[in-house]
Amino acid sequence: MKHIDEIEINGKKVLLRFDFNVPLDSDLNIVDDTRIRAVLPTINYALDENAKIIITSHLGRPKGEVVKRLSLAPVRRRLSRLLGKEVQMLDDCIGDDVKNAINDMEQGDVLLLENLRFHPGETLNSDVFARELASYADIYIDDAFGNAHRTHASNVGITRFVKECGAGFLMKKELNYFSRALENPYRPLVAIVGGSKMSDKCEAIVRLTEKVDKMIIGGAMAFTFLKAWGHEVGKSLVEESLLDKALGIIKTAKELGVKFYLPVDCVIAEGMRTDAETKIVPIQEINPNWMGLDIGPATITLFTEVLHNAKTVIWNGPMGAFEIDAFSRGTLALAHSVASSHALTIVGGGDTDVAIYRAGEIDNISYISTGGGSFLQLLEGKALPAVVALKECGKES
Ligand code: 3PG
Repeated sequence: MKHIDEIEINGKKVLLRFDFNVPLDSDLNIVDDTRIRAVLPTINYALDENAKIIITSHLGRPKGEVVKRLSLAPVRRRLSRLLGKEVQMLDDCIGDDVKNAINDMEQGDVLLLENLRFHPGETLNSDVFARELASYADIYIDDAFGNAHRTHASNVGITRFVKECGAGFLMKKELNYFSRALENPYRPLVAIVGGSKMSDKCEAIVRLTEKVDKMIIGGAMAFTFLKAWGHEVGKSLVEESLLDKALGIIKTAKELGVKFYLPVDCVIAEGMRTDAETKIVPIQEINPNWMGLDIGPATITLFTEVLHNAKTVIWNGPMGAFEIDAFSRGTLALAHSVASSHALTIVGGGDTDVAIYRAGEIDNISYISTGGGSFLQLLEGKALPAVVALKECGKES
């Protein structure tokens, strides 16, 4: 796979695909612009090379129709401010107006096209739509790591119709950090997996168990493992259909010599409510009518100790229902422990980045991925379609 700095882009028309799927509040203000900041090195490089820069992205899931509140207009404003340069924007991403505007571009101009998903051809990976996008540029650069697990026209189909293509700096960084963590890691390698549903992360847990030295499981999914192991877990979230699977994973870990850690205590409440009464109890003492909603202090101490000699840590998913203050302590405490470990620390997906941000540890983690689904797909050991397409690019005519 080529990278942007290995392709001659000087003065050329370059189509940059980003993942500007950023959270917006009800007044359409951008709540978190990490995904925009993350691709500034790629845009700045293209600017230094005097390229004509055409930017595409999706935002939300408009299902092939124009949905006004999912316009990329707020992204245009933020991008202009971050670049210190006026970014032009069109109200569509294909059509004659787009063609004319691109023909009129001068070197160093930046043009943002409207939300790709306003057209059904994007998510359908339509050849017609992909060919049209490809016709706008001499070179296609994909820097949308967050979207790389999707097979869409603007990140997969397009690579069959462009003359030359490659990856941007963000894509390169994401893939490099990931392979440093899982393909050739400094050991001990510790994985921390949390979140509510084991079913969402089963494949990732199975694969990680084969790779790591220590596995930590937290979040509501831990109760499926605890129940499988014979504990009474009250009304905690349990996926009954996965009990055997959970037991199988614990058994495999044992056979492989992987140290496997589950919570030893938890914060319980009668329901997941802000005003609910809470108690901290050992796992053995969960009240039958209550549910576990966070790891307890003994577990925080245990997990922190597990991290002490780690050389690489990979973390996906919170330790509890951390969107509610009363159940956020475990996740925030673990964020501090991961941040202060002397390891290469890589965090991604499942709101783990939000937890790191809330804990004020954003600068103390080696790498925070901009991907959710794509990060998880890498954890599962699956190839990302957009990356496969970039590697194949140029092989077909
Ligand atoms: C994401 O935010 O995970 C990506 O932008 C992909 O979005 P999607 O899940 O709507 O395809």
